[in-house]
Amino acid sequence: MVHKVQGVVALTKGAPVTLETILVPDPGPGEALVDIITSGVCHTDLHYKLGGISDDFPFLLGHEATGVVNAVGPDVTEVAPGDRVILNWRAVCGKCRACKRGQAQYCFNTHNATQKMTLEDGTELTPALGIGAFAEKTLVAAGQCTKVDPEADPAAVGLLGCGVMAGLGAAINTGGVKRGDSVAVIGCGGVGSAAIAGAALAGATTIIAVDIDQKKLDRAATMGATDTVNSSAADPIEAIRALTGGFGADVVIDAVGRPETYTQAFYARDLAGTVVLVGVPSPEMTLELPLLDVFGRGGSLKSSWYGDCLPSRDFPMLVSLYRQGRLDLDAFVTERIGIGQIEEAFDKMREGSVLRSVVEL
Ligand SMILES: NC(=O)c1ccc[n+]([C@@H]2O[C@H](COP(=O)([O-])OP(=O)(O)OC[C@H]3O[C@@H](n4cnc5c(N)ncnc54)[C@H](O)[C@@H]3O)[C@@H](O)[C@H]2O)c1
Ligand SMILES: [Zn+2]
Ligand SMILES: [Zn+2]
Repeated sequence: MVHKVQGVVALTKGAPVTLETILVPDPGPGEALVDIITSGVCHTDLHYKLGGISDDFPFLLGHEATGVVNAVGPDVTEVAPGDRVILNWRAVCGKCRACKRGQAQYCFNTHNATQKMTLEDGTELTPALGIGAFAEKTLVAAGQCTKVDPEADPAAVGLLGCGVMAGLGAAINTGGVKRGDSVAVIGCGGVGSAAIAGAALAGATTIIAVDIDQKKLDRAATMGATDTVNSSAADPIEAIRALTGGFGADVVIDAVGRPETYTQAFYARDLAGTVVLVGVPSPEMTLELPLLDVFGRGGSLKSSWYGDCLPSRDFPMLVSLYRQGRLDLDAFVTERIGIGQIEEAFDKMREGSVLRSVVEL
């Protein structure tokens, strides 16, 4: 059976997104059909619409979602109809060289549903990050579904499906932040704010928020930052060093992903400290650093794909911390909107007036 539902589609590069009727097939082997409950509006959706990720238009947008499994393919055992799930965009294969050496968070062969969702005329859709959750139903690989506590607010926990997990994981997984560490986070949007929350969760005692937008810094101060630096007014390297005894932070997280913010992160870190790049650069960007400084400053320079998360390990754990009041995911939900309000949500994202707009389906 094919399901006819409404979905938010970017038809051509840069054009406003439109609500289209889309056709979603029943799940085949390894697949799950999911009724979407909520889906957050992430910067990556805007990147897709603007053609910054690929040219495979039309895109079915949305990828930070909570849903209920509607049906599963014949061989699927990990989830069942009725399960409340958070969708993830890195379903691991279990067979590649990363998986084989026990580092499935790096899986080099993640996968999505095999069957295609289409427009009514048969045009194949490219679902954003292999999900496509601004739709009443979507088709994913079963491994993209992680069962979680159905009592948790879907709008809040669904954000673990992308930006909030990326930020939390950049601190607690990739950065390995420990009790007593000093941490600086450059860029305090959804991802950076989550990195701040992650650093707080891990027990960092100094957490420095850096942004060029004072509104973001004011909010960061309510999410665990102990100090704030407005880098449009002050040199962030000097400011971070001054706040860490003149040395620099143990872990610096670049949640912007530009050559200048990466360079700031590189020099604002203590000797033998860690830089984590979680912001995603665009293809034309290049980085120039004195190689002697790369050697002389030691430590590690790491990238964080999806917060190096393992959804099956991290989502239930973080939902549990949320339910216990130890991780404030509600703070990330700025507004709840309808499926027809994605363009307004993009405008608010550009203005910087929201952390997350969450679509309720
Ligand atoms: N690594 C991953 O797996 C992953 C996952 C999701 C998102 N991301 C990426 O993370 C980045 C941040 O996403 P977001 O949703 O938080 O975006 P956002 O737009 O909500 O936040 C970006 C923040 O950076 C600030 N900023 C911009 N330029 C700056 C500069 N030069 N110095 C300091 N601050 C600056 C902005 O004021 C804003 O607060 C994006 O590049 C996004 O694509 C990565
Ligand atoms: Zn793998
Ligand atoms: Zn995202």
